[in-house]
Amino acid sequence: MAILKIARMGHPVLLRRADPVDDPGAAEVRRLVADMIETMQDAGGIGLAAPQVHVPLRLFVFQVPAGRSSGEPDDQPTSVRVLINPVVEPVGEDVRLRWEGCLSIPGLRGAVARPWRVRYRGVDCDRVPVAAEAAGLHAGVVQHENDHLDGVLYTMRMPDLSLLGFTEEMARFAAPGGQV
Ligand code: NI
Repeated sequence: MAILKIARMGHPVLLRRADPVDDPGAAEVRRLVADMIETMQDAGGIGLAAPQVHVPLRLFVFQVPAGRSSGEPDDQPTSVRVLINPVVEPVGEDVRLRWEGCLSIPGLRGAVARPWRVRYRGVDCDRVPVAAEAAGLHAGVVQHENDHLDGVLYTMRMPDLSLLGFTEEMARFAAPGGQV
């Protein structure tokens, strides 16, 4: 396993549409996923998409950590999950502002408007179908990572850029938790 270099905003790999994974069970895909999990954990992130490690393929890893989720039934802590060739769809009309950060935009956080609830599906490295309905942080991280596969960064979804700032600076003046 290896810790991979993370592309930062400004690198063109973060702005292109990623390609489907032809064979989710291939050895090189398993190796990439293992390295991405190690990289995500080393960086202290809760999600990482392949384009963020300079690989323009449609897959991401994520984990909903204990103590960060809303606690709703579809927003419980999870183990590390991988989603290959994902499809993500909003459920319902509920759209809320939530704080997000990104390993490709280090040190910053911003308030992003997203559907509170989504349905997603894909496959894992054993080609086993994965499908779930998610809310809150779980839904937010899945949407954020899925956006990376379409070349979209969270800042592009911000309705109010005055709610973008350096995490350290914002922490001095407010306590931005999971809610805006
Ligand atoms: Ni990100």
